[in-house]
Amino acid sequence: MRINWSCCRQLVSIQKLLKVRAGGLHTTTRQLSNSTQARNEEGKREDSIEKDEWTNVTATIERLTHRKLLSNPAHPLSILRDIIFSKFPEREYTRANFPNPRVSVYENFDSLNFAPDHIGRSKTDTYYLNKHEVLRTHTSAHQVESFRVHPTPGFLVAADVYRRDEIDRTHYPAFHQMEGGRWWSPEGMSSVKEFVAKIEADTAKIPVSGIKIVDDTLPFHDGNPRQDGQSPEVCIALTNHLKRSLERVVGEIFENIADGDPSATKEPLQIRWIDATFPFTSPSWEMEVYWQGDWLELFGCGVTQQRVFEQAGHPERVGWAVGLGLERLAMVLFGIPDIRLFWSEDPRFLEQFTPGVVNAFKPFSKYPGTYRDVAFWLKDGTTPEQFHDNDLMDIVREVAGDLVENVSLIDKFTHPKTKRNSLCYRVLFQSMERTLYNDEINVLQDNIRETLKIKFGVELR
Ligand code: DAH
Repeated sequence: MRINWSCCRQLVSIQKLLKVRAGGLHTTTRQLSNSTQARNEEGKREDSIEKDEWTNVTATIERLTHRKLLSNPAHPLSILRDIIFSKFPEREYTRANFPNPRVSVYENFDSLNFAPDHIGRSKTDTYYLNKHEVLRTHTSAHQVESFRVHPTPGFLVAADVYRRDEIDRTHYPAFHQMEGGRWWSPEGMSSVKEFVAKIEADTAKIPVSGIKIVDDTLPFHDGNPRQDGQSPEVCIALTNHLKRSLERVVGEIFENIADGDPSATKEPLQIRWIDATFPFTSPSWEMEVYWQGDWLELFGCGVTQQRVFEQAGHPERVGWAVGLGLERLAMVLFGIPDIRLFWSEDPRFLEQFTPGVVNAFKPFSKYPGTYRDVAFWLKDGTTPEQFHDNDLMDIVREVAGDLVENVSLIDKFTHPKTKRNSLCYRVLFQSMERTLYNDEINVLQDNIRETLKIKFGVELR
């Protein structure tokens, strides 16, 4: 398969960006390039990929990389991005754009302190173009670059990210995240006290959210430690700035929704901080909101590991970062019931939204779904653990695209005599746009079965 990455041609080079910096135009949204792009511009690599035994990007995923949902300002994901961005002063936070999802393994993992055996690096979880390049799995892949080049002390990025995943109403192999970061430099400060006072003065400028947010976390402790070499006062000051900034965003978003939508449930909103762990922050937290019976993760954040600043060429700096998934929050705010809808090109979806406005999505009629089971014996000597669900998920997406709402493993057993292993998956076919016919579903099911046979040597049952 030849993957076309021509989207990177729209970019300006780092050199051009630096010229813009020199001109002081630091409040406009600008296109930034990552180092992969820089390589492209040097002409070493154009828009094709060198495949190797790591390559697992499918044609369906490659197509999604060209959709650029965030470039439509009336798309609910863009509306949410713009609302969130508007809570961070433009003069302080550069809006950076990284249109190309192709990044190096270094950018996505190594620069962020991911251990060599971290599960996120596995081929079953990540789309590899080849051994050295992946489709970014998170916008954190641009942290080092962003901390390195921006003229302002803060940055914001929103972009498409890719992960091999299950098929259900809240998971899709492509989704969108936004990343934010803020740093301070102790240069010119005569003491830690003065430095802390500077960070605290910046915190005091952030409006306090009126919304109730439960925070039982400690500033740091053995399970969520402060970094060696960072004083407790600095760590706490950074944490306060981080939490105040993010509480403001969440508070204002949910308050406005509750005010603007008379049909919104009047149950008191529950939002809480919990401890978390990320390779590139310490201490780290997540914020969760209680929504329709479940605690929903809104974002991860923390005090940035010094290693990230070292990689960015500014070892003296300290700061924080946050990464937030846009889809889940947009589903809550706009009442969008299925993640596939974000990718719909149906005007009945797209025409419901207006830039700057969060309005409740009005479902067009739900078309009935139909199940088909796909059962097979694994090749002799293969255990069910060696066949990864995500391998089947990618086959289903290749064959049936968004006509599948859900895939679940419903049966797994080992034959008592032959010791062969059998798996059975249930596939729910359901379109959001039209009624599906049995004949077409049968063709898709046959196709999925045949592909499984060819790719994995299974015996169909
Ligand atoms: N990149 C993380 C993820 O996708 C989210 C995240 C956590 C981003 C902590 C951050 C951060 O910037 O500081 O799960």
